[in-house]
Amino acid sequence: MDLRFLRSFFANPMRMGAAFPSGPLLAGQITDPIDFARARVIVELGPGTGAFTRMLEQRAHPACRVLALELDPDLAVYVAARYPRVEVINAGAQNLGEVLAERGLGQVDAVVSGLPFANFSAHQQTSVVDAVLAALRPGGAFVSYSFVHAQMLPTSWRFRRNLKRIFGRLDIYPVLFNAPPALVYSCVA
Ligand SMILES: C[S@@+](CC[C@H](N)C(=O)[O-])C[C@H]1O[C@@H](n2cnc3c(N)ncnc32)[C@H](O)[C@@H]1O
Repeated sequence: MDLRFLRSFFANPMRMGAAFPSGPLLAGQITDPIDFARARVIVELGPGTGAFTRMLEQRAHPACRVLALELDPDLAVYVAARYPRVEVINAGAQNLGEVLAERGLGQVDAVVSGLPFANFSAHQQTSVVDAVLAALRPGGAFVSYSFVHAQMLPTSWRFRRNLKRIFGRLDIYPVLFNAPPALVYSCVA
């Protein structure tokens, strides 16, 4: 087992939000809503050690740019070395607009999130979701997840309410064979 994830969790449990990386079934479900044949820019927020990054690298069209924004500098270096096709940026998800502008990128086709939104303040949740909405092209996908056990937290409900309000519709898919079991949140801009 890769201890890097666990080390980052002990160093900053709120920022990591999980002690172990997501499993392959969750990584599959979280990338399924993306139209890979059409997508030419995909962004990942909070790649951690790369559970979703790996799937994005495998499934993305050869002409598609894949960007990943990771706040933890050590994990950013690790993911960049492990997935050379992915442009890893050591930056906060809320700075997505600046990151895209610096690279001359306009709207993106999909944003996949591994962020622990239930640990975020109301302001943090809104600023990231606003940045995502501003970045997505019409019809672009925003896919995120939350753990089933986190559903008892008011912060988790606030995030779900915000997604419904901002995107108008939220589709939820359970992924029970993940440790811990999770819910995938899928929205369309
Ligand atoms: C639960 S881990 C998810 C890792 C991976 N996606 C997975 O599912 O295994 C959350 C990741 O989000 C990163 N993170 C937390 N807040 C962030 C922020 N505001 N911007 C970018 N990354 C952030 C953490 O450093 C951590 O790597």
